Amino acid sequence: MMLGSLKVSDIGIGAWQAGGKAWLVDRSELIKAYRRAFELGINFVDTAELYGWGESEKLVGEAARGYDVIIATKVAGFHWGRVEKSARESLRRLGRIDLLQLHWPPPFYVPLCKVIRDLERLKEAGVVAEIGVSNFGADLLRKTVECLRRHEIVSDQIEYNLFNRAADSEEFRRTAEELGVKIIAWSPLAKGAVLGRWGSDKARRMDPSARKASTEAGGRIVKAVLDIAKARGVSAAKVVLAWLKHRGVLPIPGIKNVAQAEDVSGALAFQLPEEDLRLLDRLSEPFVAGSVGMVSIRYVPGFLQKLLLKLYSL
Ligand SMILES: NC(=O)c1ccc[n+]([C@@H]2O[C@H](COP(=O)([O-])OP(=O)(O)OC[C@H]3O[C@@H](n4cnc5c(N)ncnc54)[C@H](OP(=O)(O)O)[C@@H]3O)[C@@H](O)[C@H]2O)c1
Repeated sequence: MMLGSLKVSDIGIGAWQAGGKAWLVDRSELIKAYRRAFELGINFVDTAELYGWGESEKLVGEAARGYDVIIATKVAGFHWGRVEKSARESLRRLGRIDLLQLHWPPPFYVPLCKVIRDLERLKEAGVVAEIGVSNFGADLLRKTVECLRRHEIVSDQIEYNLFNRAADSEEFRRTAEELGVKIIAWSPLAKGAVLGRWGSDKARRMDPSARKASTEAGGRIVKAVLDIAKARGVSAAKVVLAWLKHRGVLPIPGIKNVAQAEDVSGALAFQLPEEDLRLLDRLSEPFVAGSVGMVSIRYVPGFLQKLLLKLYSL
C-alpha cells in the first residue's frame, strides 16, 4: 500500500504496548518481536509521543536501528502551539519520522488550520516525510484538506475492526476516497476480544470491545473467526488480519512477543476465500453504525486532556 510517497507492507505493527503501564508486557521481548516482524516483511511501525510519554518512541527507535522500515508517530492533540517542538523531540527519540500524525483533533477553541499548517511546515522543512491525522471523522477530514496549502494528508488512523466498522458508513468511505486519504486501522484485533482473548491489562479495562464480544452479534463474530481459523488451519489473528487487508485498510496489531510477530507477519501472504470474507462482512454489519473519530474530546480543554492522560498513565 502507498501512503503518499511511502511504500508500506499491507500489515504494520503498533507500539502502544511498548510504552507506559497500559499493557502487561516484557519490554525486552518487544524489541525482539519488532525486529522479528521487520525480518519477516513488515516494514511499518506506529508509535506516539504519548505512549509512555516517549518510552515507546525510544524503544521503537532502538528496535528499528539498522532496519529499512517506515516509522510513524503521533503528536498529541493538546499540543497546539508546540507541535514543532514536540515533533523534534520525537525525532530525537526515533532517529527518523516518515509519517507524522495528529493523534486526535485539537480542542474546539483552537483553529484546526493552525495545527494543520504546523504539520505542513514540518513536511516542508523535511523534518517528516508525510503527514496524516488520527481519529478524524468525515467533516474534520474535509476541513483539514481546506487548511492545506501545498501538501496532502495521506492517512487517517482510526479504530476499525470487526466490532467497529463506523468507517464503512457511506459518508466516511466516500470522503476518504475522494480526498485520497488511506485508513490505518487501530485496535485491528479489538484488543484481542474478536479472537476470544481478553487480558487484565489496564488498556483493556475501559475498552468496550469485551462488552461487544459478549453481545449476540459479537459472539457470532468471535465464533465465526474461530471456526474459520480451525477450518483453514491458521490462527484467529490471521483470519482477522486477512479480512482487514481485504477491506483495503492498513492494520497495525499491537504485538507483544516474538510468537505474535511471526503470526501477524505470516498474515502478509494469507488470503481468505471469498465465502469467509462475505460471512465476516455480513456478521459485522451491525457494527457499521456509529461515528468515526473522537468527537467529544474536542470539548475537553487541552490542559485537562493532558492532566487526565498523565493520571491514566498511558
Ligand atoms: N490513534 C489512536 O488513537 C490509537 C488508539 C489505540 C491504538 N492505536 C495503535 O494501534 C495499535 C494496535 O491497537 P491496540 O493495541 O489497541 O489493539 P489490538 O492490536 O487490536 O490488540 C492488541 C492485543 O492483541 C493481542 N495480540 C496481538 N497479536 C496477537 C496475535 N498474533 N494473536 C493473538 N493475540 C494477539 C495482544 O494481547 P494478549 O497477548 O495479551 O492477548 C495485544 O496486546 C496500538 O499499538 C497503537 O499503535 C492507536
